[in-house]
Order: sequence, then structure tokens, then C-alpha cells
Amino acid sequence: MTESLLSIKGVEKHFGAVRAIDGIDLEIYENEFFALLGASGSGKTTLLRMLAGFEIPDAGQIILDGKDVSRIPPNHRPVNLMFQSYALFPHMSVAQNIAYGLEMEKLPKAQIKSRVDEILDVIQLGHLAKRKPDQLSGGQRQRVALARALVKRPRLLLLDEPLGALDKKLRGEMQLELKRIQHEFGITFIIVTHDQEEALVMADRVAILKDGKLLQSGTPREIYEHPGSRFAADFIGVMNFFPVREVDGKLIAEDGSVIAAGTPLSAGQQGVAAVRPERLSLTIKAENSITGKVVATAYHGLDLQVHLKTPAAPEPILMRLTASDAEARPVAEGDEITVYWAARDTRAFPL
Ligand SMILES: Nc1ncnc2c1ncn2[C@@H]1O[C@H](COP(=O)(O)OP(=O)(O)OP(=O)(O)O)[C@@H](O)[C@H]1O
Ligand SMILES: [Mg+2]
Repeated sequence: MTESLLSIKGVEKHFGAVRAIDGIDLEIYENEFFALLGASGSGKTTLLRMLAGFEIPDAGQIILDGKDVSRIPPNHRPVNLMFQSYALFPHMSVAQNIAYGLEMEKLPKAQIKSRVDEILDVIQLGHLAKRKPDQLSGGQRQRVALARALVKRPRLLLLDEPLGALDKKLRGEMQLELKRIQHEFGITFIIVTHDQEEALVMADRVAILKDGKLLQSGTPREIYEHPGSRFAADFIGVMNFFPVREVDGKLIAEDGSVIAAGTPLSAGQQGVAAVRPERLSLTIKAENSITGKVVATAYHGLDLQVHLKTPAAPEPILMRLTASDAEARPVAEGDEITVYWAARDTRAFPL
């Protein structure tokens, strides 16, 4: 996964006064499963449309396989875009829907058949090849749409919110399914999502977009464990924040609690210290501690979520106790408890 397939260099796209894409540099590698993550309006679709050729950048270059494709029309790029709302042809069977693109390319009949059969196998819908789209479930339809995009064997497949229309359970299944299909086909995927959990689960690497800019990119672990900014820390997963000030190499919370952060601020600087809920523990084993009152608990099966009001932070702190920890040491609303965490699990960001 070290060969670069796609280089996005200084790409900009403006719509009137809106800087939809405001100077983005990004490398995407062969066979990578890459996720673009960002809030609504952050520029995800605009970037995909430029990669597919439906928009021309105002500045910068899009280099695919060493060639600048920025100005090459969509049908002449080895790229396929699966739209935010995909539409199957209702009067055609599953197999005909998949074959359609290859027929447009005027491939020999036998070759079309073998490619359609091959892909039906991958999406595991061979037994439904003769059905019409309205005789399929949402997840099956979604797989047919994916097959239709894959059968043309693009170098790069772009998927804009492909799972947006599915319910939560099916969505989870399709996330794993997409990963498997991508792996089996060895095609580079760039997927757009505004669901951070989905990005973490599926992607080899994730890029966070904000207001048309690239905020951070990295593996899911890097992004989750080492967010580069307060925004990224807040956007990805759940994070507890303590307003702090740097005093003599330590971070001091509003109530005077000492928080020795992993990434210290400069002398006297104000900022926020951040720690993930699952890093908090009831066992005295670590440098940092906060005492507070339990204001709510919520049972989630795998864990017990404990909300703690503490003078060290304006918002209640969230702790996630594993089911077994919660059994060993019951916690109830109204309890005063002290929670601990390791200094190395603390991140700090200047204000
Ligand atoms: N054709 C257009 N004309 C004018 N403004 C546009 C056009 N397309 C997009 N924009 C603007 O560019 C910005 C980025 O839009 P884009 O569709 O890329 O966002 P997105 O990240 O895909 O959002 P969503 O998650 O809602 O799909 C938005 O402010 C949007 O209003
Ligand atoms: Mg969009």
C-alpha cells in the first residue's frame, strides 16, 4: 500500500463567495480504503465530484497514475462515482442492471456475462440475478448499485454516503461487506461519510474536512488517539474537556486540580485538557484524578456510562465502566467518586 495512486495538490473550488474546497493536499495509495469525514457543507461531495470529473478545480492538480486528470471529462477517467442517491433501472433485472455499463462500452456478450457472473458472486446475489429492484431489500439494492460501479473495474471507486439510506443494523453489516468487497477486488475506495464511527470502522485512513480545508489525516487509531486539534478531538468519538492553565510545567484545572498532560502547553498558556471516557477508571493506578458527584448513569449492555459533575469542568464528565468493573464496584446516582487516568492519556490544546 505504498504506491501513490492519486495526488491531490493544492486543489481549490469556489462557488461565488463560498470556498467549497479551500486548498487541499492529499495522497491516496493503491488498494487503500480511504474515508472523507466532515460535517454537512464541509466540501466532501465537491471534492469527490472533482475527482470524478463532474467539477473542474479553480486551482491545483488532480494526478491519477502519474497523469494530470483535472480537466479530463468523467467518461474518460478510470474512476467511477456512486452517487449519494443511487438509482437502479426499475424495469431491468439485477443482472441487466449490472451489465448495462458494459453494454454501453460494447464489450462482447460472452465477456459481459462472465464479468457479471463474477461480480454477482462477490456480492453474493447470484441467486437473485433475475429479480427486479423492487423485489429486493434495501441492503440488496445497495449491493447491486455497488456491483454496477465495480463491474467496470475502475482504478478508483468513489462512494458518496453509500450507506446513508440504510437502517443502523444493516448499515453495520454493509460496512463489513464493503470492506470485504474492496479487499477482494483490490480497487481503491474513497468513501464519504459524516458518520465518524463508520469512518473509523471501515477505513485504512481517514481525512477530516472542515470548511473546505483538510484538518487532519491518518489511520483511525492515530486520529482517535492523537487528534491534532480540539475540533478533531471533539468531532471523533466522545471526549471530556477540562479548561486548564499551564503553571510550572503542569496543567491546572479551574478548581485547582492538577492535570499533568501528555502534550504540555507553553508557560502560562490557557487551553483545554482532554481525556477519553474509556480511559477513566475507579482504580488508583494513575497520576491524574478528579472527584465529583454522579449525576446520571446509563446502562448500555457492554458498559455503564457514568456522568460525573465536577468543579474541574463546566460540563459533566463521562466515564465508561466495563460491565465487569461496574459489577465489582457499583456506582449509583448521588455517589461521590474519584476517577483516575494516566497522564499519557491526556491531550492538551491551546485555546
Ligand atoms: N453547485 C453549487 N453552487 C453553489 N454552492 C455550492 C454548490 N455545490 C456545493 N456548494 C456549497 O459548497 C459547500 C460544500 O458543499 P458539499 O456539497 O461539498 O458539502 P458536503 O460536505 O458534501 O455536505 P453534505 O454532508 O451535506 O452532503 C456548501 O457550502 C455548499 O452549499
Ligand atoms: Mg455531500
